Amino acid sequence: MAKETKDYSKYFDFSDAKVISEDESGKKIRIRGRDIQILSEPDHRKEKQRGKEDIRVLYDTAVPEELKGLGNGRKYIIYTYGCQMNEHDTETMKGLLEEMGYTPTEERKEANLILLNTCAIRENAEDKVFGELGHLKGLKTENPDLLLGVCGCMSQEEGVVNRIMQKHGFVDMIFGTHNIHRLPYLIQEALFSKEMVVEVWSKEGDIIENLPKKREGMRAWVNIMYGCDKFCTYCIVPFTRGKERSRRPEDVIAEVRDLARQGFKEITLLGQNVNAYGKDFTDIDYTFANLMDDIRQIDIPRIRFTTSHPRDFDDALIEVLAKGGNLVEHIHLPVQSGNTEVLKRMSRKYSREHYLELVRKIKKAIPNVVLTTDIIVGFPGETEEQFQDTLSLVREVGYDFAFTFIYSPREGTPAAVMEDNVPMEVKKERLQRLNEVVNEHCRMSNDLMAGKIVEVLVEGESKNNADVLSGRTRSNKLVHFEGSKDLIGKFVHVEITDPMTWYIKGNIVPEAVTSV
Ligand code: SAH
Ligand code: SF4
Ligand code: F3S
Repeated sequence: MAKETKDYSKYFDFSDAKVISEDESGKKIRIRGRDIQILSEPDHRKEKQRGKEDIRVLYDTAVPEELKGLGNGRKYIIYTYGCQMNEHDTETMKGLLEEMGYTPTEERKEANLILLNTCAIRENAEDKVFGELGHLKGLKTENPDLLLGVCGCMSQEEGVVNRIMQKHGFVDMIFGTHNIHRLPYLIQEALFSKEMVVEVWSKEGDIIENLPKKREGMRAWVNIMYGCDKFCTYCIVPFTRGKERSRRPEDVIAEVRDLARQGFKEITLLGQNVNAYGKDFTDIDYTFANLMDDIRQIDIPRIRFTTSHPRDFDDALIEVLAKGGNLVEHIHLPVQSGNTEVLKRMSRKYSREHYLELVRKIKKAIPNVVLTTDIIVGFPGETEEQFQDTLSLVREVGYDFAFTFIYSPREGTPAAVMEDNVPMEVKKERLQRLNEVVNEHCRMSNDLMAGKIVEVLVEGESKNNADVLSGRTRSNKLVHFEGSKDLIGKFVHVEITDPMTWYIKGNIVPEAVTSV
């Protein structure tokens, strides 16, 4: 089958790129003396397609014996950007690398392999990565044996891959989010060929089970699904992460059980859109509510999930969450905007009224629920009045925390071609006004905790003061208190003394827990 010829001139001047060879397995090109082996490269058109074919689940994915010693005596570092999905992918890559014999280091000069697990969600996320690549260029000059890889969501973008091939020829590997399990092979290829190896799959692959994972601490992430089919008009994730596909319930449950046996104290179920879980099953009728109901029976003290989409948040799920127990009373429920017209242009598929109604139902069923959210300001065409709707919604819901962002156009998304007519000054000013309103409520809600006794899972020493421990309540509030290091990884009860905006201070008490 003939391969399509790619238009390399689309983003950059590829006039000095020469195709050296091309066949079914890929092609080799040379740019400014650097040989590049392209096994497969991203294609925006294919990333958009949603095929009907069944997703295969592969279980036999161990690192092959012959690659197991490849990392012996070698050290690695992975820098992770972006969301928890990426953090968790990093745990998988660490697992793979350590099975190959690699050991971790924090010292760049010592590293034989550095991977950048990147995020493409906003332009500033990408700028950070290109900045880091600039720094790593020097390191690579000093140590030509260093293997440098770029992976994650940015690698799924044609423009990024082209830019790296053209301007950052010192990179050794580019791979995407669908072929993480191929890491051992790609390392082998890059090490032995000395060429830049590019392998990015544009169509989501299969669900790969049983990959090794290096988990640390007492909190664990568990993927329940991959991808996103929502196509919010501003968002790049459906392109970088592919179509929605759910892991089989038995595989998720077995993993959570195993984590419980290992003594993990908290599990976060992960997906871009967790409450769409199960919608892709053709053989069973099993939803996110069913999964939560099954998982809550496993002996793990705390179970969280992120992120849920307001559109798919049904009554059955609310009913299960209201059972409480190890299902904590914190829901991250991104709203993005408080104005129905803007929500429509964002293609969020719910209205302000629908969202507020959902919040009312949740609060009724779970009276002590803590809600947090994501909000974008300065979406194309957002008027002052529409922005005020966001402020009024934030006041009405009363979020305890919000991730707030200035809209950032992402190439290839529908919003990127809408007229971006809100001046940057106005966007910045709206962000500031929004943050003030969010902080006001957050402080108020923290103030209400004064004098209460809360259950805290102790995570570690506080960042700024080694004598102080920090941990989180069930509702995910950060608590600082004095205590001995042996408490790390355990549950303690803390009486709140000094609420702040971003954290609350308290003292450990021996009494039984009474509230959130
Ligand atoms: N799947 C999650 C969100 C993933 S991205 C959900 O649907 O809620 C995390 C957040 O980044 C989004 O909720 C949104 O607020 C923000 N975001 C996504 N694309 C953006 C863009 N182009 N500009 C600014 N913020 C964006
Ligand atoms: Fe992006 Fe929307 Fe999917 Fe969230 S639901 S990942 S914002 S497209
Ligand atoms: Fe970023 Fe990809 Fe997550 S774009 S937010 S790392 S899914």
